[in-house]
Amino acid sequence: MKSFSEYSALIEKSLRELEFPQGVLSSLYDPISYALSAGGKRLRPALVLMTADAFGGDATAAMRPAMGIEMYHNFTLLHDDVMDNSDTRRGRPSVHAKWDVNTAILSGDTMLTLATQLISGVADEHLRKVLDAFNAMAIRVYEGQCLDMDFENREDVTIDDYIRMIMDKTGALLGASAMIGAIIGGASDEDAARMYEYGMMLGVAFQIQDDWLDVFGDSNTFGKPIGGDINNNKKSFLMLSGLSDTSADGTALRDALRLPSGDTKVKVVTRLYEKMGISELCKKEVARYGSKALAALKKVNIDDEAKEPYRKLLDKLTGRKR
Ligand code: IPE
Ligand code: IPE
Ligand code: MG
Ligand code: MG
Ligand code: MG
Repeated sequence: MKSFSEYSALIEKSLRELEFPQGVLSSLYDPISYALSAGGKRLRPALVLMTADAFGGDATAAMRPAMGIEMYHNFTLLHDDVMDNSDTRRGRPSVHAKWDVNTAILSGDTMLTLATQLISGVADEHLRKVLDAFNAMAIRVYEGQCLDMDFENREDVTIDDYIRMIMDKTGALLGASAMIGAIIGGASDEDAARMYEYGMMLGVAFQIQDDWLDVFGDSNTFGKPIGGDINNNKKSFLMLSGLSDTSADGTALRDALRLPSGDTKVKVVTRLYEKMGISELCKKEVARYGSKALAALKKVNIDDEAKEPYRKLLDKLTGRKR
């Protein structure tokens, strides 16, 4: 077994070797190269490789599907940045900011199909199961993104609604990454399902941490603008925890939701979060879902040694700053 960073370095190298048509179609393909060259964490494809390896499969056979998963992830980001009106990604202008919205739509669509092509590069014996897992995941992501947008205009969203939404928009892709790796590695259906559960719970912890970073992170390290969720009235874990407060602070937060977007709104809401101890609440919730990921991992039939990188990955992500 390699470490998570070693798997992500392998992905990075393979992504650099991808070639796209030049010339008249550069307005379609340049944004794709641009998005892929910005150096994300490569979390999802590394999880594919790591899991194929953990079950004694051939990690090189998992490379194309792993790249497909990263391609898919980057497709969702192109569209997500349009939907969230977010101009910065990985410390650089997002695709719609550098080009325009039409480019983000069409290059994004192309990435979705390139992703499917790469994933279909899996060995024939695994093709059906892998494509089923991929398609089921993709639908969940769109459903989650739909709920995320709808929630912006609702004030009756519960924490349970939120968890369901982030399981869809974020957890499903991490779950499917671990599951696809398990299938390629030759895991039993039961173990593949347990790995899915690990990825899903890791994803929930990951998204709550992302919500926290959107408020309390440093934009240079995080690579995304701070306060975007507040300005979009996103029903993040922080916002929902604050809104459920019945004291005067809760009322103040509900009033703050109606402020026009801008620096003042971000400051007012952030100060209320600090006053209400919401940062600590986030940390606890991240740890709680982290434990659920570990509980799923515990049941998986692989050596304890092969589980170590998964425990390390969880530690790394729950304390992440980017
Ligand atoms: C961003 O994912 C989208 C979320 C689910 C929060 P990452 O934080 O994994 O983004 P990159 O790929 O490392 O930039
Ligand atoms: C992202 O959620 C989920 C997907 C891209 C599917 P966010 O909107 O919180 O992700 P960031 O913060 O823009 O990366
Ligand atoms: Mg976003
Ligand atoms: Mg979003
Ligand atoms: Mg976010």
